[in-house]
Amino acid sequence: MRKKTRICTKALAQKLLVCAVAVTLAIAPLTFGQTGSRPDDRVVRERVDALLKQMTLEEKIGQLSQLFDFGEVKKIDEAVVGGHVGSLLFVTDPAEINRFQHLAVDKTRVHIPLIFGYDVIHGFRTIFPVPIAMAASWDPATVTTAQSIAAKEARAVGIGWAFAPMLDIARDPRWGRIVEGAGEDPYLGSAIAAAQVRGFQGDYIGSPDHILACMKHFAGYGAAEGGRDYDASYIPDSQMYNVYLPPFHAAVKAGVGSAMSAYMDLNDVPATGNHWLLHDVLRDQWNFTGFVVSDANSVKSLEKHHYAKDLSDAAVRAFKAGVNMEMAIDFNAYSRHLAAAVQSGQITVQEIEAADRPILETKIRLGLFEHPYVDEARAQRILASPEHRTASRIAAERSAVLLRNEGGLLPLKKSGYTNVAVIGPLADSQLDTLGSWAFQQDLQETVTVLGGLRDKLGPQVKLTYTPGVQIYRKFRSFFDDIFKLKPAVPWTAEKSKAEMSKAVNLATESDLTILVLGEAQNMSGEAASRESLDLPGREEQLLEAVAATRKPVVLVLLNGRPLNIKWAAAHIPAILEAWYPGTQGGNAVANLLFGDAVPGGKLPITWPRDVGQIPINYAHNTTQSPEEQGKRYWDEESTPLYPFGYGLSYSTFAFSDLKVSQTQIKPGESIDVSFDVENTGALQADEVAQLYVHQRYGSASRPVRELKGFERITLAPHAKKTLHMSLGTPELSYWSTTKKDWVEEPADFDIWVGGNSEATLHASFEIKQ
Ligand code: BGC
Repeated sequence: MRKKTRICTKALAQKLLVCAVAVTLAIAPLTFGQTGSRPDDRVVRERVDALLKQMTLEEKIGQLSQLFDFGEVKKIDEAVVGGHVGSLLFVTDPAEINRFQHLAVDKTRVHIPLIFGYDVIHGFRTIFPVPIAMAASWDPATVTTAQSIAAKEARAVGIGWAFAPMLDIARDPRWGRIVEGAGEDPYLGSAIAAAQVRGFQGDYIGSPDHILACMKHFAGYGAAEGGRDYDASYIPDSQMYNVYLPPFHAAVKAGVGSAMSAYMDLNDVPATGNHWLLHDVLRDQWNFTGFVVSDANSVKSLEKHHYAKDLSDAAVRAFKAGVNMEMAIDFNAYSRHLAAAVQSGQITVQEIEAADRPILETKIRLGLFEHPYVDEARAQRILASPEHRTASRIAAERSAVLLRNEGGLLPLKKSGYTNVAVIGPLADSQLDTLGSWAFQQDLQETVTVLGGLRDKLGPQVKLTYTPGVQIYRKFRSFFDDIFKLKPAVPWTAEKSKAEMSKAVNLATESDLTILVLGEAQNMSGEAASRESLDLPGREEQLLEAVAATRKPVVLVLLNGRPLNIKWAAAHIPAILEAWYPGTQGGNAVANLLFGDAVPGGKLPITWPRDVGQIPINYAHNTTQSPEEQGKRYWDEESTPLYPFGYGLSYSTFAFSDLKVSQTQIKPGESIDVSFDVENTGALQADEVAQLYVHQRYGSASRPVRELKGFERITLAPHAKKTLHMSLGTPELSYWSTTKKDWVEEPADFDIWVGGNSEATLHASFEIKQ
């Protein structure tokens, strides 16, 4: 109440008009944001009505503009004071956030606070494993915890809006942004999407210590032709509805408050100007009530796509399609052209107000009017929280996927080795332990694999490190400029040879080698597509040379996409996929390798043998010769190297006693699927039980199997648990090309349960009219 009074006094002092709004505030018995109660919808609407009544057209258009803070402070200050901006992104210093906020609250006519947005993708200060890794945990609870910590840290510095979750289904690992999503599967993707929304937003928009989530990139971005970032996507309706859209729909159902349009052409209509996507699907079919922000400069891109005639046409088309707010680095189309479009009658004032409403409502719900400023000292305390780092380590342990463990080499015995060689260009690189979209971390806090092993093994074990090879991008990324990374100076031939020999010698002298290979963080992410999936640089030669020492070798992969590890999969006894594991990555890897944590993650994507198999995914349709499915190529198996859902443990599990509650149901009814999972090993460990379904015939061909249920469980040695999963309309219906609609059809269904997508324990049932 004290703060309210202060704001009200200032408002009164500046403009009488605004007092009307302030009176509305005072009489509304609301406590927002940090006070923690859900605001009443009607009251929020009335407050927005009152605000809109006070605003000029220019101010209304100002709320629809978002600007990057790339250091041009004077320009931004002027835009804020002039009421031309509703949101800023890339401001992360709480003092600077407070300063901008003061300009918006104190120096503008209508005193509307800014909302600060940022790419809080997998953490803010505490960096969690990259999103594809989090999906590999198959554990929505871990995902929710991670994003709620990310939200708490971001909110503490004054950021109220995360440009996440990224929900693009991706089936082509050449696409660099596959690292930012949950992989190839719509069912897993939907569960992870909802978990992230819950983590960011809490119970409702404005929950204490939570922030607004933004599902992106709506939609179809992951299907870029050739895996080339930003290239066009061509996606048939059936794939759109059955594969690409479900995670977004799940996020909407979970209450996501904003969406970001995508950059690329979707079936020849750019996503940012796509009325079908942004209006028909999002608002009409799904009843989304939040707001849509464009991706950076993507309104301007409508012109670049040769879709809009000029910037003014681009502004009108994006606006009419359903983009509420424009994110612009420059070329701000909305602030330059929307007023003229209103004057010329192309857009009405009512339409501008309708675009403003969800933005203003969000600001109210977030409590920004009552609590526009942050406490800088509190922010530093929250960012330094050791509990956050512990949560990040646990998430990294739960995300890792054990791909191979021949002869039970893992877990390693702490007392078993006296001389350990750690080799590889990523083993002691803090930045590469974090992955892309990590900017606010404290690198000193980041534990590399080498650091984690050093702590684990202590001084009594001789631990030696050498990179062996050098890796770098052929073409520089624009993120390298943000990180101010110096261009790599390629090693000379002599240096390369010497480094390789040094690595092989270390391996020869050691009694265990831990190779840490994969991709540097800038090789995966936005603008990080690849034409090959080979280990970069001379990593493969290093791998083979180290293996030739015939000493025990463990391969730890740091990467954001499946790579071509065919040779390793046949010759290296132990392979742990650690992804980019985050702030505590090295400790997590050390715990996993030495058995203080047991791997339980599973692949959220099919792992191809080689790049030529792409696209490859488990939920493909069947063919006229299904028995030959693995022999489509004459030069290589057409099966994956590792199937979707795959991952080993240090224990073993058995599935049995699969039962369906009924063998026949009517459309609309559900069946209960039950089965037992038993830990048949001697260690407590996790298994992810997976349920797959196949419809044998229908008005359209259906995939050979589709994930329709999963649960990650922890079982004590020899313990057995009965699990239940339900199958009903949400799981058994699909969008049929023939019917051009959602259908649930009378048909026979197969189900399988097990620990990956090649599960064999089978049952069947029928839907009968
Ligand atoms: C990316 C978005 C991101 C935005 C703001 C764009 O280049 O595509 O995912 O949120 O930049 O940083």
